[in-house]
Amino acid sequence: MPEASVQARPAAKLGRAVIFLGPPGAGKGTQAKQVAQEYAVPHISTGDMFREHVSRGTPLGLRAKAIMERGELVPDDLVLSMVEERISRADCADGFILDGFPRTLPQAQRLDELLERCKVQPLVVHFVVDSKQLIRRLTGRRTCGICGKIYNIYDHPPKVAGRCDLDGGELVQRPDDREDVIAERLAAYERQTRPLVDYYRERGVLRDVDGMASPEAVTKNVLGLLAQKK
Ligand code: AP5
Ligand code: MG
Repeated sequence: MPEASVQARPAAKLGRAVIFLGPPGAGKGTQAKQVAQEYAVPHISTGDMFREHVSRGTPLGLRAKAIMERGELVPDDLVLSMVEERISRADCADGFILDGFPRTLPQAQRLDELLERCKVQPLVVHFVVDSKQLIRRLTGRRTCGICGKIYNIYDHPPKVAGRCDLDGGELVQRPDDREDVIAERLAAYERQTRPLVDYYRERGVLRDVDGMASPEAVTKNVLGLLAQKK
């Protein structure tokens, strides 16, 4: 009798541009890491890209640093050229997760043009979290300096204080997670990014997700949305 073979399930294809939209602290980065891993697609965080430029001291990083430390948005032209270059790479061919982009109407309009040109559908996941919870999450956030895993000293602390559970890396606080800067980041969201909720809702491509649930429950809900028929 032939040995029973275990049929490997082919990996699901994402095949679209998934936009994670929500205020600072809504859980975009936490969820993007999980979902990108699940679908084996790039996780494109414009905030992480700027932070990398800042740490390398590139000309773009030097321009972005002071703006980010004030909690304001980096000018659209700088963001757009960085994103256009990134999504034109071959690893984005089967879809990608955009975390923290677009954040202004001109960014959203330009992204539409790019996606239409390559016939890629957008799906916008809008994380809904109340403002009291956002402040608690941002003031308590710590990130591993080695692998980027995100913790929260109040709600899901590491096993050993100040050290990553996965690789023992030092956990660091972002310079823009000070309370005065958080207030400006939340104000910038209301002023410049919140209008995108209506922009995408009117086009029928936006889905709300309860971002107040546990990280695991949020991941389950997001994966459920992505598995729905396009
Ligand atoms: P960016 O890095 O994108 O920051 P942000 O949008 O302010 O969002 P955060 O990264 O703070 O929050 P998040 O939603 O990712 O939450 P996280 O998962 O970490 O941008 C930084 C700056 O770069 C901007 O201010 C701007 O200057 C510039 N920039 C970036 N993109 C730009 C653009 N497109 N245009 C112009 N400028 C741009 O979670 C937060 C905390 O909550 C963590 O501690 C986490 O552990 C915890 N948490 C997460 N989920 C849960 C949950 N379900 N329950 C309990 N706790 C949770
Ligand atoms: Mg983030």
